[in-house]
Amino acid sequence: MSTVPTLDEVKQELANLDAAVTAPTVFMKEVVSLLHTRMTKYNWVGFYMIEQQPSGEPVLVLGPFQGAMTPHTRIPLNQGICGAAASTGKTVIVDDVSKDSRYLACSVETKSEIVVPIFVKGKVVGELDIDSHFAAAFKDEDRDLVEFCAKLVGKHLDTLST
Ligand code: SME
Repeated sequence: MSTVPTLDEVKQELANLDAAVTAPTVFMKEVVSLLHTRMTKYNWVGFYMIEQQPSGEPVLVLGPFQGAMTPHTRIPLNQGICGAAASTGKTVIVDDVSKDSRYLACSVETKSEIVVPIFVKGKVVGELDIDSHFAAAFKDEDRDLVEFCAKLVGKHLDTLST
């Protein structure tokens, strides 16, 4: 498919995946692939999931992703845009990463970023992180789409914990 899809079409494709895929890890890989392929301004798409370190401190660990390899495979919750989203439980959108002192660089081409927390039973368990080579790439409808994805992933992960 080479045409640029509407956000509603992408949402429908996500809903189809939601109904078809049962294993959460497979679902997460498919979400990454769909967003990276279909949303042309989403140049790096990946998950970070919270794990407990032996010290008891939580850390964000890189999960399924597509795009350039990142040096940030483990991010403490007090670092980066990623840490900010996980520790506050709130979506973070940065229109110009060069102006945000929290930003941890993955690629010199990245201009803007969105990070959306994923909840299971009211607790943040990870997040969906997307970088764009375009400044201010993430508008209200992108926020809506990425939050929709994060909710679906949370629902799939919740089936593991019951
Ligand atoms: N930019 C993120 C780090 C992850 S890479 O973008 C993949 C941050 O500031 O937390």
